[in-house]
Amino acid sequence: MSLPKQVRIVEVGPRDGLQNEKQAIPTSAKIQLIENLVDAGLHYIEAGSFVNPKWVPQMADSGEVFSGIARKQGVTYAALTPNLQGYERAIAVGANEVAIFAAASEAFSQKNINCSIAESIARFETLISAAKKQQIPVRGYISCVAGCPYAGKVDPNIVAGIANDLLALGCYEISLGDTIGVGTAGQIKQLVEILARTIPIEKIAVHMHDTYGQALANIYAALETGVSVIDSSVAGLGGCPYAVGATGNVATEDVVYLLNGLGIEHGIDLEKLIYAGNTISNVLGKPTNSRVARALSK
Ligand code: HMG
Ligand code: MG
Repeated sequence: MSLPKQVRIVEVGPRDGLQNEKQAIPTSAKIQLIENLVDAGLHYIEAGSFVNPKWVPQMADSGEVFSGIARKQGVTYAALTPNLQGYERAIAVGANEVAIFAAASEAFSQKNINCSIAESIARFETLISAAKKQQIPVRGYISCVAGCPYAGKVDPNIVAGIANDLLALGCYEISLGDTIGVGTAGQIKQLVEILARTIPIEKIAVHMHDTYGQALANIYAALETGVSVIDSSVAGLGGCPYAVGATGNVATEDVVYLLNGLGIEHGIDLEKLIYAGNTISNVLGKPTNSRVARALSK
């Protein structure tokens, strides 16, 4: 299959990127990050999560973040929500869209959301029926698609089954999360091909963490299978609190550089994006994880 002409980037830095940071980050810096990302041309930002703040303290101020953003028309400000309570909190502060998250491994599901995969799907039913009534689109994540930090190998057919369950519930798109970044290009290609037997390729997104340095190769493999939605995190921020050792998502700057080289449209201004990434990295007091930002910031 030929490469897509255009790609939609789902920027997860303000949520996935920041959720695992232990230090206090001022709410104003989170708001500034989101506004800088929008200024760089991103149209879809996962701006925070509405989970139990005892589980993920860094996201406790997501309500203030959503309320404080100067909104731009045409931009989706999305929230990660594990249940109806989270959904209602997100909608109260004007989230345009929500994302739910299931896992492809029972062990990870228990650690991350304290219930089995089947229980999580049942919880999502009440959330999705509320979202349908309010015409709020729901995106679905599946974690650990290429391997689990607790259970090891994950069967692609299990991933396909969960993806079909989430779509049947009403998710408009499924994002395949390589939470611990262990996947390799051949494996991701095979996984997407298995899913594409039952799911239109337009409904499949990839969400690659870069722990083993494979994220860009995996994204390229996914592009070759026809995937045209890519999740990424500015400055390569990130990590999951329930996947020890998992590092950040692929850096948005590096994805944009790859797409530029391939002549694939994305609508993002790389210079402004690097500014957004370097600004939040300065707030965090650490160097950017984007190789492209490092190379172009000298
Ligand atoms: P639980 O303890 O089973 O929930 O947690 P519960 O229903 O029994 O409620 C217990 C308490 O939590 C109650 O409070 C609830 O009110 C409260 P208490 O009465 O004890 O004071 N609670 C909430 N509070 C605020 N907002 C809520 C909420 N829900 C319940 N929405 C729960 C279940 C799912 C809530 C919990 O396990 C949780 O918050 N987990 C968070 C997990 C998380 O955020 N993980 C990181 C994101 S996932 C990820 O990074 C992967 C991804 O990027 C893709 C990839 O990379 O693969 C998406
Ligand atoms: Mg993630």
